[in-house]
Amino acid sequence: METTTLKIPVERTKQSKIDQVDFDNLNFGSVFTDHMLVCNFRNGAWEIPEIMPYQAISLEPSAKIFHYGQSIFEGMKAYKDVDEKIWLFRPLDNFKRLNISADRMAIPELPEEYFMEGLKQLVRLDSEWIPQAAGSSLYIRPFMFASGKGFHASPADEYKFIICLAPSGSYFSGKVKVLIEETYSRAANGGVGYAKAGGNYAGQFYPTQLAVKKGYNQVIWTDDNSHEYIEEAGAMNIFARIGDTLITAPTSDRILDGITRKSILEIAEDEGIRTEVRKLSVTEIVSAAKDGSLKELFGAGTAAVISPIAGFGYKKVDYELPEITDSFAALFKKRITDIQYNRSADKFGWRYEVK
Ligand code: PLP
Ligand code: COI
Repeated sequence: METTTLKIPVERTKQSKIDQVDFDNLNFGSVFTDHMLVCNFRNGAWEIPEIMPYQAISLEPSAKIFHYGQSIFEGMKAYKDVDEKIWLFRPLDNFKRLNISADRMAIPELPEEYFMEGLKQLVRLDSEWIPQAAGSSLYIRPFMFASGKGFHASPADEYKFIICLAPSGSYFSGKVKVLIEETYSRAANGGVGYAKAGGNYAGQFYPTQLAVKKGYNQVIWTDDNSHEYIEEAGAMNIFARIGDTLITAPTSDRILDGITRKSILEIAEDEGIRTEVRKLSVTEIVSAAKDGSLKELFGAGTAAVISPIAGFGYKKVDYELPEITDSFAALFKKRITDIQYNRSADKFGWRYEVK
């Protein structure tokens, strides 16, 4: 039996909204469960979290989140297996990354117990909301932001840590076509690219809108200095398969250290697939696309899972990727989701049961 000393007060909703949800036709992250977890940082310390009905929160107009963007988040999922057991995937890695992001954005670190116990108790309480249709799951959004007030451009004295849950279907619908970016940058050396800071995403919206107008779904970011090396996509790390070698960029202070990315690298090693973690130039991708050795490009992330890229644009030329059987993307997707949904053994110890 699990023992915990942390007592999280719970105020249950008076009226569940679950009957209003069409669980067979879920979008990504647009309906929310009955409850949320809220934890306040006040007077120099994180207070005991509380679970309450999902509701609007009230903030002063001078709260620093609105002015200086001190805000970070995480993305995770809960899965339900055929026996109705509930599973998380590598949750401690999300916790650790949350605090890495917090440090970079001068937000006070959260204690592990508040994150893990809060998460488990909230997911357990709203476990009826975990969808079981193929490809769907309960998306978990932990986030933290500066609720303290004042126009002085310095860290706030109060913060909120909140977890909300959203039963979700797939992130992308249809084929993913990407534009390799030549002008704008997502992140810079010494910047906040490795943190899951809200502003990293806001900064991508405009260049992504330009790409969408040209018929692409996503931008693939290149390094801010030369725009010559592939970095990552808006919400995914990127892998290329050239011949039978799997290549991905090394993480750096510009790239998010994705949990799906590192899981794929471990599975690849287990499968005996040759991997190279190294700088990957656009020139190499384009010449591999031209000579036919570029067999696959795919993105990897919690929300997107593993999303094959059907084609990419670069310098006004479009390149299509071949449809292949025995794709690495399909293999990795199967191995990861089999572990996540408890359909296979978990030799890496990644699955985490919420009892
Ligand atoms: N890169 C960015 C910018 C992301 O937002 C995400 C999503 O979380 C990823 C990569 C993939 O990370 P993970 O696999 O941990 O979800
Ligand atoms: C995730 O994959 O969980 C993310 O955080 C990406 C998000 C921008 C949808």
